[in-house]
Amino acid sequence: MSHVEQAHPLTEYDDLPIAEVFDRTRHCKEQLGPRLVILGHHYQADEVLQFAHFVGDSLKLAQQAALQEHAEYVVFCGVHFMAESADIVTKPDVQVMLPHLEAGCSMADMASIDQVEAAWPFLTAAAGDARIIPVTYVNSTAPIKAFCGRNGGLCCTSSNAPGVVDWAMSQGEKILFLPDQHLGRNTLCQLGCPMDSIVLYDPAKPHGGLTAKEVAGVKAVLWQGCCDVHMKFSLDQCRRIREQDPACRIIVHPECTWEVFQEADMAGSTEFIIRAIDEAPDGSRWAIGTETHLVDRLAKRHAGRLSVRNLATERSDCPTMALIDPKHLLWVLENLADGHVVNRITVDESIRDDANLALERMLALKPGKPVKG
Ligand code: 13P
Ligand code: SF4
Repeated sequence: MSHVEQAHPLTEYDDLPIAEVFDRTRHCKEQLGPRLVILGHHYQADEVLQFAHFVGDSLKLAQQAALQEHAEYVVFCGVHFMAESADIVTKPDVQVMLPHLEAGCSMADMASIDQVEAAWPFLTAAAGDARIIPVTYVNSTAPIKAFCGRNGGLCCTSSNAPGVVDWAMSQGEKILFLPDQHLGRNTLCQLGCPMDSIVLYDPAKPHGGLTAKEVAGVKAVLWQGCCDVHMKFSLDQCRRIREQDPACRIIVHPECTWEVFQEADMAGSTEFIIRAIDEAPDGSRWAIGTETHLVDRLAKRHAGRLSVRNLATERSDCPTMALIDPKHLLWVLENLADGHVVNRITVDESIRDDANLALERMLALKPGKPVKG
């Protein structure tokens, strides 16, 4: 097997009619058979997801990756941190690929390992005898997952954040939650942590803009990161919906701000949102605060039974998820069928075990309650 790294398919794919792309993709899947597993996140377009063996939220896809006993190749139709997690939890001989190498996550990019390593001595010294447990949302780089594993902490997803934070609180007196301040705040407040027991660490400022006294006085330190896609949802939009249609239910992803989260009727992972809409009573009306591909899919699936709309007036696409398209997928699969592994995602050996520890601690926890349901 040769290993090639390339962000874009060769130009020969540019002019291919979409029907031919689909035919050739189906053919490759057949050719590769059980050696290949394609995982797809709910934010991917339908034209990509039609080829996925498993579709899910971050938790379900990490669990699926961990279950792969016989596959040689995992092609991840999602973003970079998801492919890294898949590489960490699969056996070393499983090769994980991301069809487009620029499909990152802007939130994950908001916490670098150097910033976190620089923050830690200040935070631990400020905490004194109180133990800080670092918790990282899976939307983070592998080195940050490894940092959490090494320091007695773990990962969480939007599916299991309440259970993970509960566990972390039982292990120490404080938590450091990375990198999404909103999932951190929403989860902590929902679990009863007072708002004045939470501070925000801004990596752009010396000591995060905090004093040692401030850190000593709180239960949780939140990293100042966020998802630009979920920042598009606002309290004003929620209020407008309430005015226009008081019976309309609002359901959001917990990466939304605390104001939106509080105003929403329900909040949870993409999988949770799908379940809530699938089980909604006939004739009910819903406004959803999450990525547009998922909202559109749910609106289409339930057309005539439910009214489903985007909470925002304009689209809320995740630009990096959208980089994975049928042509990039085909390019990866045709290379595989020809014996070439392209765009392989590998996590460095030196951090693999620690990162795995953080993921394993998470995967070992029983599924808990939703963030707000
Ligand atoms: P889920 O785990 O809920 O699918 O969320 C992943 C994500 O990136 C949301 O922005
Ligand atoms: Fe990252 Fe936000 Fe895209 Fe999710 S929606 S992958 S958090 S940028």
